[in-house]
Amino acid sequence: MKKSSSLRFKLFFWYIVSLVLLGFFIVLTVHIYQYEYSAYILGGLLFILALIGFITIYNITQSIINLSSQIRQISSKNLDKRISPSKNDDEIGELGRSFNELLDRLDVAFKRERQFIADVAHEMKTPIATLRSSFEVTLHKERTNDEYKKIIKDSIVETDRLTTTLRDVLDLAWSEVPNENLRSKFDLSELMNEMTEIAQKLALKKHISIRHSIISNIQMLGFRERLGRAILNIIDNAIKYTPHDGKITISLIQEYNNALITIKDSGQGIEKDEVDHIFNRFYRGAKTDNVFGAGLGLAITKATIGIHKGAIKVDSKPKVGSTFTIAFPLS
Ligand SMILES: Nc1ncnc2c1ncn2[C@@H]1O[C@H](COP(=O)(O)OP(=O)(O)OP(=O)(O)O)[C@@H](O)[C@H]1O
Ligand SMILES: [Mg+2]
Repeated sequence: MKKSSSLRFKLFFWYIVSLVLLGFFIVLTVHIYQYEYSAYILGGLLFILALIGFITIYNITQSIINLSSQIRQISSKNLDKRISPSKNDDEIGELGRSFNELLDRLDVAFKRERQFIADVAHEMKTPIATLRSSFEVTLHKERTNDEYKKIIKDSIVETDRLTTTLRDVLDLAWSEVPNENLRSKFDLSELMNEMTEIAQKLALKKHISIRHSIISNIQMLGFRERLGRAILNIIDNAIKYTPHDGKITISLIQEYNNALITIKDSGQGIEKDEVDHIFNRFYRGAKTDNVFGAGLGLAITKATIGIHKGAIKVDSKPKVGSTFTIAFPLS
């Protein structure tokens, strides 16, 4: 901002000029020449100074009124509207620009929320419609008890899926506003050992072997439960997208001031053009037809890692396998 155009400078300039003129007048007319009309001249001078002061302050309040009436017209429905910049490059112009920047940020956040709600509605619509039509078909004619049992069992599976999706969606929504009071110090090595045990149980059915190499006593500050779920999402994927008799390696090491977690699988891998999208909400790869999922796992994981100031990356080769690496700063 140019200094000469700032309001503070203008007011200060007016104040100094007033003092100088008044001082000059007093010395010149009262003490030296002792003019007869000095009282009138002084009155006139004061009037001019007051007028300049009034105009300056009037302009300032007018700009503020103008700014606030523009702000009043902005609501959640027209967040793309912006305040027209004031002609003067002064503090009020600066306030208007800062407000426009705030609107930019709010606009992005609102658009993201709307997109999120639209995605969720879309995801929930299909399974609910499927459930409804299966009930309709069932009611169409009389069925045996066994048939009814089967339909109810299928419906329970479907509602379980819906519940899982809903839980994931809530997880994702809340991951952006963590309760800071729940942030605490915990043993990451212990958490990784627990994750490995869960992985071993989950992998039993597919005869996938789980190897692990976890160094002990790595302490970190964060949300233990949530981080556990985030890591479990990667383990869950590793198991889901690795064929029978495959292998998965889970490791935790310390490198400089970072904790590095890697989860490596010998699964189907991820195509190059898919890698950039796998952390997006509701994104599912092309080869997932036979595997249940909503495409939310990695989006949740990434958000959770973000609130721990960590980073996640993936290296993958189709038909060879994938390696997910997470790095957390320890200090
Ligand atoms: N280890 C992996 N091997 C191969 N593909 C993977 C692996 N992990 C993720 N992917 C791909 O990334 C996509 C997104 O994964 P993400 O975990 O977000 O969703 P999902 O597993 O499909 O569903 P959800 O996790 O919600 O149950 C998957 O659909 C899959 O195509
Ligand atoms: Mg997943």
